[in-house]
Amino acid sequence: MEYSQLEQIVAPLLAWYEAEHRQLPWRRTKDPYKVWVSEIMLQQTRVETVIPYFERFMERCPTVAALALCEDEALLKLWEGLGYYSRARNLKKAAQVICASYDGKFPEAYEAIRALPGIGDYTAGAISSIALEQARAAVDGNVLRVVTRLTQDSRDIMENKFRRQVTEALENVYPSARRGDFTQSLMELGAVVCVPNGEPLCGRCPLKTLCGAQERGTQMQYPVKKKKPERKTEYKTVFILINENKIALRKRGAQGILSGMWELPNIEGIQTASQIRQELAEKNIALSELREVSGGKPPLKHIFTHMEWHMACWVAVCSTVGTDNELTWVTEEQLTHEFALPTAFKKCLKCCGRVWEGTGGQQQHDK
Ligand code: ADE
Repeated sequence: MEYSQLEQIVAPLLAWYEAEHRQLPWRRTKDPYKVWVSEIMLQQTRVETVIPYFERFMERCPTVAALALCEDEALLKLWEGLGYYSRARNLKKAAQVICASYDGKFPEAYEAIRALPGIGDYTAGAISSIALEQARAAVDGNVLRVVTRLTQDSRDIMENKFRRQVTEALENVYPSARRGDFTQSLMELGAVVCVPNGEPLCGRCPLKTLCGAQERGTQMQYPVKKKKPERKTEYKTVFILINENKIALRKRGAQGILSGMWELPNIEGIQTASQIRQELAEKNIALSELREVSGGKPPLKHIFTHMEWHMACWVAVCSTVGTDNELTWVTEEQLTHEFALPTAFKKCLKCCGRVWEGTGGQQQHDK
């Protein structure tokens, strides 16, 4: 179909959404605060993963005001494992702006929403339409896939200009009622029918008779996405330093990946046992035991969007720990309930099970 015919998708999509949409916790509300938090969580993260995070978040921070007052450490704990932690920090910053500038009430003007920290065109469109019933589109990868297949459009979906054109084309056909449903119907179709990986389920698509790609069998040629630059690889030697049933954490710097998060102490490169002993000795840490627990060279991999880490992980039982105040010593209990540790480091801990409970050689190897 042509963009000029886009209006034809509205009625069949709305009818399909009414009958078929998944029941999701954030779909039981029109509270812009809740819609906002859900949309931020759903960026880069799958629906099934988000559900329990969303429920916990709403229990702990049920309102903008509660979020604005949430301690950073508690907030990161709520976000632990979701990744892209700046999303959580921006949520809190924006909540503080809403309290300071809008008396704690979520703003309703699109431009005011768009101006909040961490809110881009997509999120502003999603909140404005889903919660506030405005004729604003929310164009994410799912929606771009649906639209480029319908229209057989080969332009590069990574181009902002193209996204803006799709946004405008959709906004021109927004219905006068059920605008939030229309936004969600496009997302839903992209998520469950016009799927991202593998063949789309065109037999179940309410738009199949309108879709250019389905007519010609060219679904898999869309969307067109320019190749991303390759990921950089970093090698690291990571330590589980154990002292008296505690392990050492360290706070990452303010810049770069996982900024401001807790981490297991680590050094650049894949180091040998003697290099490790020497490195730790320089920090006045003496060891009674040192073992590689990740079983390879280097066996543990963690993938970020623009970077991958290859990690060798060592358990080091300390006999003296000097006075290096870079390190914070925490119990297993504290690590479970108070300190948020990024998944890359959780993988290291998993290598050796609950190793810091004892100092001897009977730890489980739980890979
Ligand atoms: N992905 C992004 N936003 C979504 C929503 N509101 N419901 C389901 N999946 C989504």
